[in-house]
Amino acid sequence: MTSPLRHISAGSATAATDVWIGPGLLDTAASRLFSSSGRFLLVTSAGPLAAVERVRRALAGRLLVDLEIDDREESKTLGTVSEIANAALSAGVRRDDALVAVGGGVVSDVAGFAAAILLRGIPWNAVPTTTGSMADAAIGGKTGVDHREGKNLLGAFHPPRVVLADPAALDGLPEREFRAGLVEALKAAWIADSGLSGRVEETLSSVLARDEGPLLDLLAGAAAVKADIVSEDPRESDRRRLLNFGHTLGHAFEASGGYRHLRHGEAVAWGIRAALDLSVRRTGLSAEAGGRVADLLSRLGPFPAPETAPARLEPFLSRDKKATARGIAGVLLEDIGRARVEEAIPLQEWLDAAARISLP
Ligand SMILES: NC(=O)c1ccc[n+]([C@@H]2O[C@H](COP(=O)([O-])OP(=O)(O)OC[C@H]3O[C@@H](n4cnc5c(N)ncnc54)[C@H](O)[C@@H]3O)[C@@H](O)[C@H]2O)c1
Ligand SMILES: [Zn+2]
Repeated sequence: MTSPLRHISAGSATAATDVWIGPGLLDTAASRLFSSSGRFLLVTSAGPLAAVERVRRALAGRLLVDLEIDDREESKTLGTVSEIANAALSAGVRRDDALVAVGGGVVSDVAGFAAAILLRGIPWNAVPTTTGSMADAAIGGKTGVDHREGKNLLGAFHPPRVVLADPAALDGLPEREFRAGLVEALKAAWIADSGLSGRVEETLSSVLARDEGPLLDLLAGAAAVKADIVSEDPRESDRRRLLNFGHTLGHAFEASGGYRHLRHGEAVAWGIRAALDLSVRRTGLSAEAGGRVADLLSRLGPFPAPETAPARLEPFLSRDKKATARGIAGVLLEDIGRARVEEAIPLQEWLDAAARISLP
């Protein structure tokens, strides 16, 4: 049975994204991707071989630029943005041309940012090829690059016009990346869609076997949560902060491991474990609900254990953008599908929660 194509709208009337999710989108990309001139600047990486080949074939004869970039996190820099700009400008890019990013979150963050500043902004499209970018990174309009002072410090809000999420684009995605990205998809369910979380409790083994129906149900459900939240709060002044569930300690775990020890989604999984513990203490989350979330996380793992020594975590937590003298803001669960921001959780409580997380 083939799954039907789903459509989700994200954003506002002036900055809208059409998200299409389902099979067959790679080969029919030419009819769905946006470009006023009909010309495209293709930006890809070496990882998602099959997806890149299929989009390239679908856009044959319309490519002004066909550029492969290095998509390691170390290359998520202004230097790589310059590479894209050089290729585009020397090929004579115009404002009515559009960029297409085919790859994971690194490719869409860098290429989307290049699109945001080329000629003061040209339209772009995303063809995500990881679970994390289908559920999260390609939707919402945040683009940008890292700086030596920290991750994602240079960027712009510039939503893609179209996102095409075809399960075939995941072909070749390593198991570890596949599972890490699903943590972000489940995060969306836990903050805003208890029905989705309940369904995945039943279907997780099929999802992990990459069975198209249940996998698309999860990815589309997560994309819908993200689209809904960013449409309401495009610039992260309020509700969008809920998407940071698991990210306060998650970022500290990631940074204390030098960004090499844990994949982002794995660090978030540990951050969620700790946030569950804080939630049971502070919001009245039932131990039963917390246990169900923790159980799904264990079934996604096992993940490498994070650094939990207070002395190693403290500097990264204190540097958190949400830190004040009274504590650090965090997202806690009240129940599965319902989250809230707690404005000032004392540093010591975070460190204690980190120390209490046991192996998943
Ligand atoms: N803009 C946002 O809202 C947002 C949200 C979440 C994450 N991000 C960013 O996304 C990045 C992480 O992205 P990611 O998790 O998608 O992973 P990624 O882009 O780092 O890719 C992971 C690895 O998988 C490879 N790969 C990708 N697709 C493949 C495929 N189909 N087959 C084989 N290999 C493939 C890549 O080459 C890479 O080696 C981070 O830089 C993060 O900051 C951005
Ligand atoms: Zn994340």
